[in-house]
Amino acid sequence: MKQRINIAIDGPAAAGKSTVAKLIARRLSYVYIDTGAMYRALTYRALQCGVDVHDEQALLSLLRHTHIELQPSPQGQLVFVNGEDVTDIIRGEAVTNAVSFVAQHPLVREEMVARQRAMAKGGGVVMDGRDIGTNVLPNAEVKIFLKASVEERARRRHEENIARGFPSDFETLKEEIARRDRLDSERETAPLRKAPDAVEIDTTSLSVEEVAARIMEVVNERIG
Ligand code: CDP
Ligand code: CDP
Repeated sequence: MKQRINIAIDGPAAAGKSTVAKLIARRLSYVYIDTGAMYRALTYRALQCGVDVHDEQALLSLLRHTHIELQPSPQGQLVFVNGEDVTDIIRGEAVTNAVSFVAQHPLVREEMVARQRAMAKGGGVVMDGRDIGTNVLPNAEVKIFLKASVEERARRRHEENIARGFPSDFETLKEEIARRDRLDSERETAPLRKAPDAVEIDTTSLSVEEVAARIMEVVNERIG
């Protein structure tokens, strides 16, 4: 049997991480882990319980009482918080605008990283996020850093909103993405960075299939 490695995929919002990570996980029969969904799930709980997203201790104690479950399904990955299906609501504007504040806190990150490492300890995982290659899985056998221009990323999110029948404004999306990029890259703890040994792919003018094919080349070099 082939070795079951871990694959880390990082990059800014809408670079195509989760789309391509799911595809790779399916091809390899690996488990896909969306770490952004975990920060979004805690943010949802904080908003629901009236916890201030700047209050690290309150968030940490909330997190300790928050069971986050990522469940694969034929429709894609489902996210449950203490048994409640929050898959759609955590992608909404309220959570999206607050999540990068929640993700700034070192103690919150420490607890999240412990959970993420536990999920990856047996190998055979494709994990996407911001700090997977640099911090969560520094020994991952394959590290990928996806990037794309902010215009292209806003265009992708805009198209997704329109396809789902959600209201969408391109310029607002572009500002929101740029603001989140800034918060995620400039925070002190585990900022968004390319790991020195990550393979960088600019997806701006590539299709999902082209990006997946490039990643599969890197994976195949590793597992032979
Ligand atoms: O899907 P999108 O790229 O818009 O975001 P996401 O992957 O769901 O992540 C949401 C937010 O969670 C990010 O903007 C970060 O603030 C935070 N995050 C993080 O800090 N570290 C991670 N490993 C994953 C997400
Ligand atoms: O996870 P992340 O926020 O990085 O991106 P995503 O949620 O996978 O969203 C990316 C969107 O852009 C999806 O609608 C994809 O179909 C589309 N897309 C892509 O992911 N990769 C490309 N090379 C081109 C388009």
